[in-house]
Amino acid sequence: MGIDPGAAGRTSGVSGAQGDGGKAVPPGIDTSTAHPARVYDYWLGGKDNFAADREAAELALQAYPELARAVQSNRAFLARAVRYLTGAGIRQFLDVGTGIPAASNTHQVAQREVPDSRIVYVDNDPIVLLHAQALLKSTRQGSCDYIQADLHDPGKILAGAARTLDFGQPVALMLLAILQFIPERENPYALVSELLAALPSGSYLVVSHPTDDFNPNRHGESIQRYNERVADQATLRGQDGTRRFFDGLDIIEPGVVGVSQWRPDSDLVAAAPSSMWCAVARKP
Ligand SMILES: C[S@@+](CC[C@H](N)C(=O)[O-])C[C@H]1O[C@@H](n2cnc3c(N)ncnc32)[C@H](O)[C@@H]1O
Repeated sequence: MGIDPGAAGRTSGVSGAQGDGGKAVPPGIDTSTAHPARVYDYWLGGKDNFAADREAAELALQAYPELARAVQSNRAFLARAVRYLTGAGIRQFLDVGTGIPAASNTHQVAQREVPDSRIVYVDNDPIVLLHAQALLKSTRQGSCDYIQADLHDPGKILAGAARTLDFGQPVALMLLAILQFIPERENPYALVSELLAALPSGSYLVVSHPTDDFNPNRHGESIQRYNERVADQATLRGQDGTRRFFDGLDIIEPGVVGVSQWRPDSDLVAAAPSSMWCAVARKP
């Protein structure tokens, strides 16, 4: 389902209100403030964003023009990580912080490799729910589900995911470009541990996390501009802060690296900019 925002303009986001270009805004969608999923969609060249999202996205881009390519590097990492995991025998994926569907969503990559893969998507933004149909186009042999839930509530995520995933078998927990929305005071490490505790030995954790380590001045300024406008503030973390999510796990080579440096499949991929650390690790 495309929202097709069209021309610029702000709305209150009230059910039935007129959105960008005079189109109706779906119920529950607040278009007055920039939202992470829609800003990210804009950076990826998507159409499911509104004027406030585009303004925040553009201001961030002006400070750090490579950001759009760096975000694409994160999507490319997602696809390589999923392919790696299917090769390692993983058939189940729990993708929390899914985002608005884009090219190469987790189920498309996984089921292309292994048609009977099972995928559960989770996001807390109602705009992602609106697009859930695109995320549920499973192969006949596999299965896909979508849960509207918040990472702050691991119990709800696990209970919902248990409808589709067998927690007796390994699961890949995917947390890509989401943990920056959990500040230190809300202990993101404990939330990740709670989810991992429900998964058996042989499961995997995949994380990508925004940082300004690769371009301190320009990316820092760009995130400041972003945070002045978005509904959920982003916390950047360094390599050590990202590695901490993997405590107690066996990190796969090449370790915690920039997203374009994680097992690049071409020189072009390796040369692309990174604005996030990432790693893949196995639960012993
Ligand atoms: C930057 S997008 C990343 C999308 C995708 N994972 C990727 O890497 O391409 C972050 C997504 O996380 C979602 N999100 C942010 N905070 C969340 C939370 N506390 N619980 C669930 N989803 C959240 C946002 O709505 C958004 O769709």
